[in-house]
Order: sequence, then C-alpha cells, then structure tokens
Amino acid sequence: LSILLYNKLDNADRWRAAFQEVLPDLPMVTRETMGEPGEIRYAVVWQPEPGVLGELPNLRAIFNLGAGVDGILRDASLPADIPIVRLRDAGMATQITEYALYGTLHYHRDFDRYAGFQRAADWTELPNRRAGDRPVGVMGLGVLGADVAAKLAMLGFDVSGWSRSPKTLPDVSCFHGDDGVQAFLSRCEILIVALPLTDDTRGFLDARRIAWLPDGAALVNLARGPLVVEADLLAALEGGKLRGALLDVFNEEPLPADNPLWRHPKVIVTPHIAAQTRVREGAAQIAAEIRRMEEGGAPSQTVDRSLGY
Ligand code: NAP
Ligand code: GLV
Repeated sequence: LSILLYNKLDNADRWRAAFQEVLPDLPMVTRETMGEPGEIRYAVVWQPEPGVLGELPNLRAIFNLGAGVDGILRDASLPADIPIVRLRDAGMATQITEYALYGTLHYHRDFDRYAGFQRAADWTELPNRRAGDRPVGVMGLGVLGADVAAKLAMLGFDVSGWSRSPKTLPDVSCFHGDDGVQAFLSRCEILIVALPLTDDTRGFLDARRIAWLPDGAALVNLARGPLVVEADLLAALEGGKLRGALLDVFNEEPLPADNPLWRHPKVIVTPHIAAQTRVREGAAQIAAEIRRMEEGGAPSQTVDRSLGY
C-alpha cells in the first residue's frame, strides 16, 4: 500500500516531506520509484499526464493538489468510479482575496489612469468615488469567490455575485444561472472571475457577454484562462469596451513570449500566482481524508464529475 505523488511542479520534495510528517506510516512514491502499480491506493496529483491514473488498478481516491480539477478531468481515460477530492481553501482563500482586492483597488482608485498620467508628467486629479458607489461583481461564489465577495462587502463596495445555484450572502446581491447572468454582468464595473473551468464555463466570457458589462469595465481573471475568449478580450480592450484587465491565468501557460497580452498597455500579467497552495495546510487536509478512508469512511467532499467541479 502506498501513495503516488505526481506533481510536475518543482516543489515535489516539499510535499513529500510534509506528507511524511502527517502520514508517517504510508510510503509515498513517484512514478519513477513505484513498484507494482497495484500497490498504489491513493494518488496525490497536480495536472497528471492523461492515462497515468488509469494504470492503477487498486486506486481508491485521487487527491488534487489545488482547487481547480480541470487538469485531472481532461483525462478521458480516468477511472469512472474513483472519487476525486480537491483542496478546499488550504490557505488559498486569503491569497485569492488579496489578489482580488489589489485589482479592485487598482481600478477603483484609478491607478491605471494615474500610471498613464505619470508617463506624461501630467499632474491631473481625478474625482474619487465612494466604495459604496462602485459596483464590483464576483463570478463564482465558491470557497474562494465567497471569501472575495465577503471581504469586498466588508470594505463597503457595492458587491454582487453570480453562481450556478441560488445563494444568500450577507451584503452581497446574489444572481445565479443563465437567467441571472446578464443582469449580473450589466452592473459589474469591476468583474472578478473565480469560476472553475468546466464544459459549461469554457469560453463563457465571450464578445456577447463582455458586451453586457458597463462600458469601461475592468476585468480581473484569477481563475482559469480559457474562461475568457482571448481574442474577444483583446478586441474589447482595443475598442475601449474594457478599461483594463488584471490577468493571472491564460489559455497557454507559461504565456508565450509573443502573446500580445504581455505588452498590452491596458493589461497586467502575473504568472498564475494569485494563490499558491500552502504545502502544510494542503498535506494536512489530504492526510485527514486518507485517514478517514483508511478507517472505512468516505471522503468528506468529492468533485461532482458531471458538473466538472
Ligand atoms: P468552488 O468552491 O468549486 O466554487 C465554484 C463556484 O463557481 C461555485 O459558486 C459554483 O456555483 C460556481 N459555478 C460553477 N459552474 C458554474 C456555472 N456553470 N455557472 C455559474 N456558476 C458556476 O471553487 P473554488 O475553490 O472557489 O475555486 C474556483 C476556481 O479558482 C478553481 O476552480 C480554480 O480554477 C481557480 N483557482 C485559481 C488559482 C490561481 O492561483 N489563479 C488558485 C486557486 C483556484 P455553485 O455555488 O452554485 O456550485
Ligand atoms: C490553482 O490554480 C488551483 O486551482 O489550485
């Protein structure tokens, strides 16, 4: 019985060390060091190569070293009945909220415009708006989006949110489903995207839906690149529909050097760092689930494969 660690990021050693501390009795192996595939009972993975998980005949659960499971579900050969467990928060919500707050304040307090003025040595003062007069929207009100919405509301912004199922959150105007999306988008001067990437959400922010935003809106995408149609985003920036975009995630990562987003004057690019998984929190969360399963229980919460998140 052992755990397979499959993580192409460069922090695999830190994960191994953290798991050794919390699950000292279960050996952790890699594809290179594992013996018989039948020995693997749990797989702890980040963006595994398609096909890898299907080779493990006695696999009982797959643990994702992050929040978004799109990197697992893209594997068409994934064994059908194995539960997938993702990290929930594990230190990410605070970071995601920091990122969202940075983006909100950047546009709310006109730092994008002042940067342009500075380049022209232009000492112009713009009128300030109250946070309460600034409509900010959060797309996706899950573990991360709900934290963003709550903290923005705490700072007094006029916050709305959108999710698949109906929600009630204090001081947040909640919209849901396809019926609610136009009303939601039409009030977002700053839109923060915190959706998972699924069959339903891929390409969701296209020219048609971007057009529903108020003119001059700003976009913060801290979720997944393919949620937004890149060509439509560029066109909206060029045409002035969008005032700017703070982007952490892209169709292709690393963002290729010749992608125009790198040099676009209205775009801020960060390299998928909005939240980094905290190794100790992540290992503790996964260890608790494995212990529960070893004692005969089921994992506390699993990914709904039909929904894709
Ligand atoms: P989550 O808890 O699963 O929440 C997902 C939210 O999106 C839920 O509110 C869900 O609605 C909503 N949603 C899903 N499909 C929808 C649809 N078709 N229409 C409307 N709403 C829909 O996910 P999370 O933990 O907050 O994470 C969100 C995403 O952030 C992850 O999937 C990942 O891609 C991304 N992420 C990025 C970074 C980074 O560093 N850039 C770090 C961590 C996570 P319901 O509430 O109705 O289910
Ligand atoms: C990071 O992008 C994650 O999904 O955890």
